[in-house]
Amino acid sequence: MQLDVFTLVPQAFAWLTEQRPLASVLGGELDLRLLNYRDFTPLRSGQVDDEPYGGGAGMVLRVDVAAAALDAVYGGVPEHRVVALTPQGRPLDQQIVEELAAEERLTLLSARYEGFDERILVHLCSDAISIGPYVLSGGELAAMVLVDAVARLLPGATGSEESTRVESFSAELEGGLEYPHYTRPAEFRGWHVPEVLLSGHHAQIDGWRRDQSRLRSAG
Ligand code: ADE
Repeated sequence: MQLDVFTLVPQAFAWLTEQRPLASVLGGELDLRLLNYRDFTPLRSGQVDDEPYGGGAGMVLRVDVAAAALDAVYGGVPEHRVVALTPQGRPLDQQIVEELAAEERLTLLSARYEGFDERILVHLCSDAISIGPYVLSGGELAAMVLVDAVARLLPGATGSEESTRVESFSAELEGGLEYPHYTRPAEFRGWHVPEVLLSGHHAQIDGWRRDQSRLRSAG
């Protein structure tokens, strides 16, 4: 996947790109480009944002700057999906993540401060996504959440396909929550691992896990 992220703080993504699963797929299944609006602004002194018309607090990412950035990189508004990260967007869930992970090309736009000039969302983006009903200081953290969630679904991102096939919200678990996990020691301070997990009886273990997943999802 070719994944482009437009941001004012590309360096914020450094930590994420050094960690697995991202590090495992970079240069292979994932070609990640971090692009700074400032490098494309047509305005003098590198300006990218401005005061809101009508007054009010904060600064707004300018539509001409966002358009210039897309023009420079794609020669216009790209044919592929362009996703703006904003609290006004569609709430992110695993279904959207899976959908986006299947795209060959994807562009994310993040903004700082008060966000985007509305014309960016209407004319330059295909999607607007929120990572939750709260306001962050900028879209970078939201973009990183999306990049991480998408990257771990790419082939070779995690050690085993199994780990992303059977997990919370997966079809394998009927879209529900994952069952509980335990590891050694089998007993600690009198806290025991459920007997069935120690039994080696795979059919029973599968059944127990399915039941636990359903119980958690129901309540
Ligand atoms: N930018 C600021 N807050 C955000 C949120 N909750 N989701 C996506 N982008 C954001």
